[in-house]
Amino acid sequence: MLLQVLGTAAGGGLPQWNCACPGCAGARAHPHRRRRHASLALRADEDRWYLVNATPDIGDQIEDSSALRPGPGPRDTPVAGVILTDAELDHTLGIARLREADGFDVLATRPVRRALTGLMRLDDILTPYTRVEWRELGAGPVPLGKSGGIEIDAVPVSPKRPRYAVGTATDTVGTDDDHTWVVALRLRESATGRSLLYAPALARWSDTFQDAVEAADCVIVDGTFWDDDEPVRTGISARTATGMGHLPIAGPGGTARRLSGLRARCLYTHLNNTNPLGDPDAPQHALLGEWGLEVAADRMVIEL
Ligand code: MLT
Ligand code: MN
Ligand code: ZN
Repeated sequence: MLLQVLGTAAGGGLPQWNCACPGCAGARAHPHRRRRHASLALRADEDRWYLVNATPDIGDQIEDSSALRPGPGPRDTPVAGVILTDAELDHTLGIARLREADGFDVLATRPVRRALTGLMRLDDILTPYTRVEWRELGAGPVPLGKSGGIEIDAVPVSPKRPRYAVGTATDTVGTDDDHTWVVALRLRESATGRSLLYAPALARWSDTFQDAVEAADCVIVDGTFWDDDEPVRTGISARTATGMGHLPIAGPGGTARRLSGLRARCLYTHLNNTNPLGDPDAPQHALLGEWGLEVAADRMVIEL
């Protein structure tokens, strides 16, 4: 199974256009610290790729990856569709940028689809331009590609709605306790049984999630914040990391101690611009190394 990391930053990116925090200023001064919005590309067939989440950077992310460039015909593209972990803006705003395609698939859970069609009105808006084929996640493995050699499965994570969907009536977007608002994705190659678990927004660590990480060969997890107090300490929010729906990396409730004993290769993604790991010289990198964990990098290729 072949994947390419297209971006590793949380909403806003690194640097964020309206932010002069030390992380963003550092990324402006040192271009190698820049990170695009978190996304992956997954090869489903020789010439057919799916993007995991559709970010505001999607055009540049496609252009920057030789495997995703168009051809040989003038409007041939290897980009067959997108697979969504949630309905957050940083993971969905890029969908409308695919409107020049003849058509594309969107794999999403029910509440995510209802948020995008009922609240963002993506179906209505895109119908005059292109054909969107919705495929439901969360009701068993979905085969991808001509050969069906890759299967996608959703592991429920949390009922956290995007802010634009908070308080919206149940008949529009579904119930409040639906844990498929945010999911982790299991990407599995049937021929080899190798799998990757992708969870860029992880609000809680359930037994189901523990089973999923134990079964995976590679895990890419929410690394939004280094510790729980980071959003409060840096002044970006009155809520802790956990309160914002992102388990921190370090500390007693952090994900590092749970990941460090796994057989899987484990990487962090979706780094917020306040996260000290955005600075390659930060001492936190050494700690992460001691725990056997990595930070994903933009353009990294992962072969399983
Ligand atoms: C998140 O990851 O929590 C969201 O993308 C935050 C947001 O953009 O509101
Ligand atoms: Mn986000
Ligand atoms: Zn910033």
